[in-house]
Amino acid sequence: MKLKRILIFIVLVSSQAMGQVSDGVLPLIPKPKTLQIKQGEFLLSDSTIIVGNNSFETNYLKTWIKAYYGFELAISNVANNAKSVIMLVQNNEIDSANPLNENYELSINPNNIIISAPSQGGIFYGIQTLLQLLPIKPSKPIALPCLYINDEPLYSWRGMHLDVCRHFFPKDYIKRYIDYLAMYKMNTFHWHLTEDQGWRIEIKKYPKLTSVGAWRSGSMVGHYSENTIDSLTYGGYYTQADIKEIVSYAQDRHITVVPEIEFPGHSLAALAAYPEYSCQGGPFEVAKTWGVFEDVYCPKEQTFVFLENILSEVMALFPSTYIHIGGDECPKTRWKNCKNCQALMLSQGLKDEHQLQSYFIKRIEKFVNSKGRKIIGWDEILEGGLAPNAAVMSWRGTQGGIDAAKQSHYVVMSPGSHCYFDHYQGNPKNEPIAIGGYTPIEKVYSYKPTPEDLLPIEAKFILGAQGNVWTEYINEPKNVDYMAMPRMAALSEVVWGTADIL
Ligand code: ACM
Ligand code: ZN
Repeated sequence: MKLKRILIFIVLVSSQAMGQVSDGVLPLIPKPKTLQIKQGEFLLSDSTIIVGNNSFETNYLKTWIKAYYGFELAISNVANNAKSVIMLVQNNEIDSANPLNENYELSINPNNIIISAPSQGGIFYGIQTLLQLLPIKPSKPIALPCLYINDEPLYSWRGMHLDVCRHFFPKDYIKRYIDYLAMYKMNTFHWHLTEDQGWRIEIKKYPKLTSVGAWRSGSMVGHYSENTIDSLTYGGYYTQADIKEIVSYAQDRHITVVPEIEFPGHSLAALAAYPEYSCQGGPFEVAKTWGVFEDVYCPKEQTFVFLENILSEVMALFPSTYIHIGGDECPKTRWKNCKNCQALMLSQGLKDEHQLQSYFIKRIEKFVNSKGRKIIGWDEILEGGLAPNAAVMSWRGTQGGIDAAKQSHYVVMSPGSHCYFDHYQGNPKNEPIAIGGYTPIEKVYSYKPTPEDLLPIEAKFILGAQGNVWTEYINEPKNVDYMAMPRMAALSEVVWGTADIL
């Protein structure tokens, strides 16, 4: 059924008649919570006036219509009774059940279109809905069906992730990815910026993180099982100016960028640049192969100073409440054989290396909390005891999320079974090479982020869900597009809460 709507969407896009009502089904993704189609139509033409304040949203709507339809619409900041008006109205209908105030109403009438919402974010979503109703092919005027939509999301974390470390994607593509998120009313971009295979964010205090850590001297060719590595230098990174530009671009589109700075594992690129923060001292090289590596940060005092200095620069760039600190797949081999680590365990009364990982994360949490921010980490951060205020991103299935919610910790669901968009989505014979797995669109659509076995009081800790795009086998933007779509569209309905509406 949902699939039928996606197919209708694709057919309508391809037949360039997206704005037509077909069998009473509008090509809207995510489908709105409530929708009533009415008699009549509104005609959009170059004499339509936009009534709105001088906001990003007003100008965004004007710019879009000019770019795709050639209409140069006038903007007025006072109510206007011209024959054809689009009004953007910020109202005071704050909904206490909806703290982000992302709800909106869209009313299309013969003489006007009214988008009203308690926040500019809600107005932005009303605009996105309106834009999805416009045809692909310009016509003059454009006829839109009269209707009334009252809409709001179910979940507050509607996320998409992108790994820019295994492969690097330029700033302009990151903006395009953010545009996709905006189109589907997703509100969180999880930007995976550090890895074994590359460090991608400029840190002024530690220039070698990018002069050394952003570059590797070879990459895997073909599938991991082929064990073939080329000898080409590969890499890239975002300057702090790039990051500011992207964060601001996302903010305008009501998207929070959550940076991920990984530790204690998946940190070989950083250790290649600064081996003194490892247990054995190196030397190391930025990883050329995929996988999990045994050399990880050593939890000694200098390492905490290093990570805190990095996080200070990161927090100055990213205003997000949450900072993702990784925490996944950290082998404990080096810690078991390290004098520093063993002495620390003894002095802190830690009975195993899982507790040492927990100590590591808790220390960093204390620092991040002292700056007024919170940490989120992959579900391994449950092992050895969860840091007091940490949120958990559940990726190895849903049990980590369930356990965290039962301990009153916030959770973002991102299980490999439904939310890993690096998996195949069709017959591998017809698909670009991928890591494996099989996650077709139907499976994404069937996902219910709130596990049934949670009590209502526990279920409120489920913030939402997120699709992950890991890029070992995704080496150019068009393949990110291929892997993210149409599963991102399906996930957008899951997190908006309308995946079950026909
Ligand atoms: C993960 O996929 N290693 C979080
Ligand atoms: Zn150590």
